[in-house]
Amino acid sequence: MCGIVGYIGFKDGLDVKEILLTGLEKLEYRGYDSAGICIYNDGVKIFKDEGRVAHLRQLVDMDVPSNLGIGHTRWATHGIPSQRNSHPHQCHTGRFTVVHNGVIENEIELREQYLEDYDFISDTDTEIIAALIEKFVAQGESASLAIRHVMGLLEGSYALGIMDAATPDKFYAAKNKSPLLVGVGKNFNMIGSDAMSIIKYTDEFIELHDEEFIVLSANEVAIYSILGTRVDRLSYKETLDASDTEKGVYPYYMLKEIDEQPFAIRRIVAEYFTENTYNINPEIVESLANTDRIYIVAAGTSMNAGFVGKQLFESIANIPTEVHIASEFVYNTPLISKRPLFIFLSQSGETADSRAVLVKIKKLGYKSLTITNVKGSTLSREADYTLLLYAGVEIAVASTKAYTSQIAVMAILAANEANWDAKVLKKELALIANVIESITDNKLLFKELADKYLIKRNCFYIGRHIDYYVAIEASLKLKEISYIQTEGFAAGELKHGTIALIENGTPVIAVISQENINLNTRSNIKEVKSRGAETIVISLKSLSAATDQIVIDDVFPVLAPLVTIVPTQLLAYYAALGRGLDIDKPRNLAKSVTVE
Ligand code: AGP
Repeated sequence: MCGIVGYIGFKDGLDVKEILLTGLEKLEYRGYDSAGICIYNDGVKIFKDEGRVAHLRQLVDMDVPSNLGIGHTRWATHGIPSQRNSHPHQCHTGRFTVVHNGVIENEIELREQYLEDYDFISDTDTEIIAALIEKFVAQGESASLAIRHVMGLLEGSYALGIMDAATPDKFYAAKNKSPLLVGVGKNFNMIGSDAMSIIKYTDEFIELHDEEFIVLSANEVAIYSILGTRVDRLSYKETLDASDTEKGVYPYYMLKEIDEQPFAIRRIVAEYFTENTYNINPEIVESLANTDRIYIVAAGTSMNAGFVGKQLFESIANIPTEVHIASEFVYNTPLISKRPLFIFLSQSGETADSRAVLVKIKKLGYKSLTITNVKGSTLSREADYTLLLYAGVEIAVASTKAYTSQIAVMAILAANEANWDAKVLKKELALIANVIESITDNKLLFKELADKYLIKRNCFYIGRHIDYYVAIEASLKLKEISYIQTEGFAAGELKHGTIALIENGTPVIAVISQENINLNTRSNIKEVKSRGAETIVISLKSLSAATDQIVIDDVFPVLAPLVTIVPTQLLAYYAALGRGLDIDKPRNLAKSVTVE
C-alpha cells in the first residue's frame, strides 16, 4: 500500500526522473491508484496524476535535469483517487514537499488545533504534514526541528520523504510503523519502501526503526531519534538479485510464482535440513517444546496457511493451536494460556494488523516467532525469533508460493517437535516438489476447465477436514483476481443454508485428499449436482473416481494442502485471464497492507 522512492546524488549518467519512475514501477505490486514525483531543478517541479506509473511517465518532462527527487504511488485512504489528492503535496509557500505512506489517525485534531484557518488543496491527511512543517519553520524552528516536532504530534503510521526547496543539497525522511529503507551508494543515497525499488542501484542498505528522522545528502546518511540524538547503525548487504524481480518469459508474475513453488519447497528443504537431521534454531525448538498452546496470528492467505498449520501442530506435534484473524485479535482477544507461543505468519512481514497484535503481546511479555518471506521486515525485526520462507520475491498481489512455503516450514517445525525421522520428511517434501511440477506442467487442463466452468458470477469451493482449509484459500484466490463471488465451505455445512444458492450452472469445486471424508464429500457433490451445479473434483489418486477432472499423485495426507492448492491457483489464474483482467494488480487490493 503506497510506495515511496527518493534519490539524491550523482550516479554516473543516471537521471533522477528515471530512477524514481523505475523505482515506482517496482513498487506497483503493492497496489495503488495514483502516482507522482517531484524533482528539484532551480525550484521544485511536480508531476502527478491518478492512474498508473506508465501514465505518469507520459506527464514527466524528461528534459529537465536534476539530482534530487522523491516519488510516490498512492493507495487512497483520505479522499478519492485524483490528481488533487495524488502525492507529492506541498505547503502554501511551496518550500516543503512531502510524500507519505501510512495513515495519520489524529488528523482532525491536528487540523483543529494548529491549522484552523489553513486553506487545504487536497482531502489527504498528508497535506497537514507539509502545512505543519511550514508553520513551525515560520515560528523560527529549523527544518529538521520542525519535522521532528511534527513527528512528535502525529499519531498513526508514516513513512515520509520530504524536500526543502531552500536546501536542495539534501532531503529528509522519517518513519513510524510504515516500511522504509535507506539505500547507500557511491555519490548518491536513496530511500525506498522496499529493497526492490532500490536494488538496481545499490545492494548496501540501512534499516530504519520507528520514530527515526533521516537526513540524506549525496555523500552522507545521518539518522536521528525523534529527539535529535544521532543514531549509529551499520549498513548490510542485501542478497536480492535484481533479476528476481523480473517477469522473464511469463506474462504475469502470478504464473511465474505458481511455477516457482517446487523450487521454493526444495530451497526450504536445503535450509531446514542437514544431511539427516533438522536444521532449526534450537531456541525456537525449545520455545515450541515448552509451550502449552500456539496462537497463530495472520491475515488473508497467510491466515489460511495458519489453519493448515493448526492441523499440522495438533495432529503431528500434539500442541493445541488457535488461529486468529489479526485485525480481530485486538478486540476479540482470547484467553491466553500459561505458556503461549505466538506465531506471526506473513509473506511481507509488514501487515499492520499483525503488527498491532505483535506490539500488544510483546507488552504482555509473551514470546513470538515470525515466519516471513522478507528478511529484515518489521514483523521479523520485532519478534523474538524469525524463520524465513526463502521463497524468493513474491510480487503478484495474489499470494501463492508464500502459502505453500509457510505450510512447508510449519510442517518441518511440527515434525521436528514430534521427532519424525528427518530423512522421511525430507524425501516426502522432495516428492511433493515433483508432484507440484507435474501439476504445473499440465496448464492446458486448467485453462480449459476455467474457460468452461468459471464463467458465472458465483462459485463455491467445498471440502471437509484439511480440505476445507484449502477450500477457503482457493476461494480467496479466485475471488481476488477474477472478481467471481466465491466462498469456501465445509462441505457438510452446505445443506444447512448455502445450498439454497445453487442453481443451474453454478460451479462447485470439491477437494478430496483424506480417506475418512471421501464418501461424505462425494455425497455433497451429488447433492449439488442434482440441483444443477457444474462440479469439478480435485482428488488424490488413491481416492479418485473415474469422473474426477483433476487427479493428483498421492502424498502424505497431512501434507496434501501443499499439492491440492496448486490446481486452484491455476484455475484462479486462468479464470482471471479469460476475463481479461490485470492479474498481478487486482482492483482495490494492495500486496502489502500497511494500514490497519
Ligand atoms: C493474498 O492473496 C492476499 N493478497 C492477502 O490476503 C495477503 O495474504 C494478506 O494481506 C496478508 O499479507 P502478508 O502475508 O504479507 O501478511
